[in-house]
Amino acid sequence: MTPVLQTAGLTGGYGELQVFRDLSFTLASNEVLGILGPNGAGKTTLLRTLAGLLPRQAGIVSLDGQDLSRTQAWQRARAGLVMVPEGRQIIPGLTVLENLELTRASGRAGADEASFRTRVEQAWELFPRLAERRDQPGDALSGGEQQMLAIARALMMDPKALLLDEPTQGLAPIVVQELRGVLQKLAGRFAILLVEQNRAFMDGLATRSAEMRGGKLFAT
Ligand SMILES: Nc1ncnc2c1ncn2[C@@H]1O[C@H](COP(=O)(O)OP(=O)(O)O)[C@@H](O)[C@H]1O
Ligand SMILES: [Mg+2]
Repeated sequence: MTPVLQTAGLTGGYGELQVFRDLSFTLASNEVLGILGPNGAGKTTLLRTLAGLLPRQAGIVSLDGQDLSRTQAWQRARAGLVMVPEGRQIIPGLTVLENLELTRASGRAGADEASFRTRVEQAWELFPRLAERRDQPGDALSGGEQQMLAIARALMMDPKALLLDEPTQGLAPIVVQELRGVLQKLAGRFAILLVEQNRAFMDGLATRSAEMRGGKLFAT
């Protein structure tokens, strides 16, 4: 299968600080690549660099064969390279539905009202509890529900590649199981890059896994 997401010689960090270097990998649309690594390994830095939230120091990021290296984060999201950030980052003062509506402004080109509505309905189908709580403010949700909302919001962008930054962080085991079920349903629909510290969560979900150490990726 042709890769959806591809990096070549990707190097990133902050100013003079190099956090990861010379990463080259591909991800097909039916794959879930799991990346494990302890705190400070550079996982978030890698995802932010892929999403265009941090400028790369060197190398290429491409989606569907299109070089996105010089594009802004919103352009990458619109192209289908979508991140679910660490800590969910939903808007606490907005309702569940309003959090989804935020994507209207940054939606994929050509997204019209009808397809927006269809996507909202799909979100309610995938996350019945969010449907029940659609008019409640984001900060009234549990941690697990906020994580589901963060994923639902990303799905509104109709991703070709979804980047997930430690989605199980701070969640109770039963909620982690639920999240696993959701990701199992999504796996295969588009490429997923899942960054985690929870190895057990990754097992059976990732089709391929790697460990980030010393700024490099090692297949596991
Ligand atoms: N905004 C920043 N400015 C400078 N250094 C940072 C910044 N954010 C993270 N770092 C450093 O980059 C390294 C990797 O961090 P991070 O990507 O957050 O790791 P992980 O997500 O794997 O826990 C760490 O050494 C961290 O201290
Ligand atoms: Mg992190």
